[in-house]
Amino acid sequence: SSSLLRRDATLSDTYSDAVELANLDWDNLGFGLLPTDYMYSMKCDRGGNFSNGELQRFGNIELNPSSGVLNYGQGLFEGLKAYRKHDDSILLFRPEENALRMRMGAERMCMPAPTVDQFVEAVKATVLANKRWIPPTGKGSLYIRPLLMGTGAVLGLAPAPEYTFLIYVSPVGNYFKEGVAPISLVVEHELHRATPGGTGGVKTIGNYAAVLKAQSAAKAKGYSDVLYLDCVHKKYLEEVSSCNIFVVKGNVISTPAVKGTILPGITRKSIIDVACSQGFQVEERLVEVGELLQADEVFCTGTAVVISPVGSITYRGQRVSYVEGGFGPVAQRLYSTLTSLQMGLIEDNMNWTVQL
Ligand code: COI
Repeated sequence: SSSLLRRDATLSDTYSDAVELANLDWDNLGFGLLPTDYMYSMKCDRGGNFSNGELQRFGNIELNPSSGVLNYGQGLFEGLKAYRKHDDSILLFRPEENALRMRMGAERMCMPAPTVDQFVEAVKATVLANKRWIPPTGKGSLYIRPLLMGTGAVLGLAPAPEYTFLIYVSPVGNYFKEGVAPISLVVEHELHRATPGGTGGVKTIGNYAAVLKAQSAAKAKGYSDVLYLDCVHKKYLEEVSSCNIFVVKGNVISTPAVKGTILPGITRKSIIDVACSQGFQVEERLVEVGELLQADEVFCTGTAVVISPVGSITYRGQRVSYVEGGFGPVAQRLYSTLTSLQMGLIEDNMNWTVQL
């Protein structure tokens, strides 16, 4: 990371001085953009090779009006978090997984992508350069947002001739305004986020634009978010706008299998492993909407969301309620283990964290 910073003497001077915490109201972080000091940018050549990435002051970027990302949605994003430990060291959670997912998505979207090494090194450099924005232990995390976009100009529909990999970061607290209190979901049975053969299984920007209408309508009615159904049978659970979903019944934890229409969440995958290691039976399969009626607990997982208990789900006017007021016992146990691992409070026997 030091070679990245050495390019610009002022950057490395600032970086070495930036040991004190930024002046923020650390007790009231939500999930909104708080501008930080630096972003990372790396372009690829026409052969699709990325090189000469560098840290730059965080700020607006210039784009050709005809760029692939603006005109045809050729773009992907990722999300991961850095936590500050009590000893001031920093932990990243499974950054190679994000790198690999970006590479899979890039293949689907006809984009070249950074190597896993380039991705992880760039994340590390960006986090270190913005260290003063990582919340104190227990107050939140630094959300890291890598982007991959077609920045070259195209007019006819085709892959862009040039790409940019960019990373920015922001300190964050809880994703939902409910905090860690249970959220209320409404099942959407008309609008869909993904179709078989489409792009639902990759983290392309368009998937998120596609859910805004249903999400806005749900929020206007007082729900926290929307739970989507498969678009063919209109009866199997898919995911929530910003996270995956799990249904608990006794010792069995079920979640929709990822088969192209569901985002393969890294928190999802981690929770499956944690739940298995704790003796739960985990089933990745088709989960029918009717199963929500019988569930003991329902919870959502995501990098931004972490684990959010679901307090109620409404489907065609019928409302089912789960645990009142807080986490159910299963979600609580999984949440404690996962967050303790992420924050370095327990030994990382999964080998998931990367210390900086
Ligand atoms: C994340 O959880 O990191 C995501 O990318 C979801 C996003 C809608 C905040």
